[in-house]
Amino acid sequence: MTGDYMKVLIVVGSRREGNSFVLANKLKTSLENARIANDIIIPGNQKIYLCTGCMDCDRNGVCDFKDDMVANIEKVTSSDYIVFITPVRWDLLSGDLKIFMDRLNPLFSTRQMKGKKMIAIIVGSKKRTEYSTDGALTSLGSFASSAGMSLVYSSQFDECLNFGDVLKYEDKINKMCEDIIKLIDSE
Ligand SMILES: Cc1cc2nc3c(=O)[nH]c(=O)nc-3n(C[C@H](O)[C@H](O)[C@H](O)COP(=O)(O)O)c2cc1C
Repeated sequence: MTGDYMKVLIVVGSRREGNSFVLANKLKTSLENARIANDIIIPGNQKIYLCTGCMDCDRNGVCDFKDDMVANIEKVTSSDYIVFITPVRWDLLSGDLKIFMDRLNPLFSTRQMKGKKMIAIIVGSKKRTEYSTDGALTSLGSFASSAGMSLVYSSQFDECLNFGDVLKYEDKINKMCEDIIKLIDSE
């Protein structure tokens, strides 16, 4: 089997057109060049109500809120790889991503994320020696294991504070995109 049949969903944890946005678009272009189906979601720019914890979805796998998560959930269920790209916020993943993840609980109760593959990409302003992107990677890894997904690849970009700072890592970004495509094509 080749990666041609795989579907990739890229979920971007920052609503500004900054470093996460740059990384998402670089990856999208590479996937398109490799003819791998993909889509980008930026939850921060969507209408997504906060999970109230009513637990109705634990009973029937359906959320009572009808907002942009209806289409997002369809995209998650039909994708083989979910790429989370997050800026570091307080050594954790971004709030936009956490809100998105909480609203995926209908898929937890119906075990529909089980077996999907996660790719984690993290960008932060601190130095590598301050382990800030490690904290965000750990929180993404915790979500993956709780959802029954396997974290198959990760990449961390440190010392990126301002818009476009991540572009200083052009070689690393290209290598990351190549690695991800190889991984998908090897299926
Ligand atoms: C509220 C807030 C908290 C942040 N906390 C951290 C942090 O704990 N560690 C870190 O390295 N960078 C932190 N940053 C910096 C961002 O991770 C950094 O600017 C990143 O490049 C932003 O990505 P973006 O351009 O995709 O939004 C924080 C930024 C904000 C706005």
